[in-house]
Amino acid sequence: MSTVPEPHVFVILGGTGDLAGRKLLPAIFHLSRDGHLSERSAILGVSRDEEMNDAAYRSWARDALERSGLDPEELAAWCDANLYYHAIGKGGPDEYRALCGRIEWLEKSLDLPGNRAFYLALPPGAFPSSIEGMAAAGLHRSTGWTRLVVEKPFGRDLETARDLNQILHRHFEESQIYRIDHYLGKETVQNLLVFRFSNVMFESLWSRDRVESVQITVAEELGVESRAGYYDTAGALRDMVQNHVAQLVSLIGMEVPSSFDADSVRYEKIKLLKAISPIRPHDVVLGQYDRGRVDDVEVPGYLAEEGVPSDSRTETFVGLKLEIDTWRWQGVPFYIRTGKRLPHRLTQIAVTFREPPVCLFESVGGCQTHPNVLFMTLQPNEGFALCFDVKVPGEPFALRTLPLDFYYRDAFGDMPDAYETLLLDILIGDQTLFVHGDWTEESWRLFTPILEQESAVHSYPAGTWGPRAAEDLLARRGHSWMGLADIREHHGLPSDE
Ligand code: BG6
Repeated sequence: MSTVPEPHVFVILGGTGDLAGRKLLPAIFHLSRDGHLSERSAILGVSRDEEMNDAAYRSWARDALERSGLDPEELAAWCDANLYYHAIGKGGPDEYRALCGRIEWLEKSLDLPGNRAFYLALPPGAFPSSIEGMAAAGLHRSTGWTRLVVEKPFGRDLETARDLNQILHRHFEESQIYRIDHYLGKETVQNLLVFRFSNVMFESLWSRDRVESVQITVAEELGVESRAGYYDTAGALRDMVQNHVAQLVSLIGMEVPSSFDADSVRYEKIKLLKAISPIRPHDVVLGQYDRGRVDDVEVPGYLAEEGVPSDSRTETFVGLKLEIDTWRWQGVPFYIRTGKRLPHRLTQIAVTFREPPVCLFESVGGCQTHPNVLFMTLQPNEGFALCFDVKVPGEPFALRTLPLDFYYRDAFGDMPDAYETLLLDILIGDQTLFVHGDWTEESWRLFTPILEQESAVHSYPAGTWGPRAAEDLLARRGHSWMGLADIREHHGLPSDE
């Protein structure tokens, strides 16, 4: 596997859409500017718009890239040199054959070897017909490599995910399919593997012998924004839990892979999901935000958001308890919470270790020990903090919890964008950070029953940490949600944000 992509054509189906303008083109531009792409490559935007042509597409892309704050002059030259456009109209068989002809023409005129990446930046309903259309026109094979990138959401439940995998596998090998979960491109998410498998100190504590519980919080301050059309038919379980959150569970819980290659890593992640016990209805809490205050600003409730039906029962919050039936994790609860309109943006994993078997210091002035907690903050202010007790100097004898911490921005400055990492991997042919077909089905196997059961949807005021029932979920085992910010505040330490 080379680390510099070979010359290729990058085809974006949905080339004039929001994802192309906001994420894909800026990422390709940065990769190209930083010298990661061969000069002999072309980007072909494809959409239904028959009025558009190469010149109009370049101008559309320039505007989109300028909104990302990039230098207009540099952009103009780059767009002119790299971007092409093809209208696919209604996407019938003739139109896919014409697309094939256009790609062959580009390859011939630019002297390219026939390597092609197709990115389905389309609404999920259009995936099956596009895959079939491409295959019928022979676009699933070429004289070089052909790779197909599929965006999330991957299916709506187990059955639709299976159907989609079947359609894909009818025409493409698994080794050609790159299912995207942008969380896997985040540096801090990748670093979970390095943290676990390169540092022997923690791996030796990483099991039921030492760990009391694991909590994963993926909180967003934002509400549904302008995406009600999609979001109201999805909800937090499909939008966040089945993919992003389940990926984090896999990375935290998986066994040590035999090597750091795509197959070994992905196999261990699938194995972990298979070992999760069916989720019991009373271990699930669904919520929907009501009006409230976020960042001191009054915000409307979900039902009052534009485009949301006034009787919608779509959940904007999910709290869950998972149990992993392996020798390593049996009996250790994995608590998950994710939601929109929570107090602030935070993706954080808290691993709480068991308390010492004997509390030696209780007799000295009644002071209590606290469990060690390892916080892995994936965003914002990415870093690690290990909280442990120290003696407060002087008398009376007292303990205080302090963090030993490390922040990425102090050590490394700015982080690369997840899409840059993932696009480069697609072009290089490294599938480690992409979702295997079997993983998607295992994940849906786990979460589909929740979609099928009648669950109460609790209301929570915007700007709070979700419904009260999400606290009760942990209280049953004597646990409570904990954030590094709370510990810092409790002990009078300055905020890390
Ligand atoms: C997307 C979801 O996949 O992830 C959005 O569809 C969510 O609803 C977003 O806001 C969160 O991503 P990030 O990178 O901002 O944590």
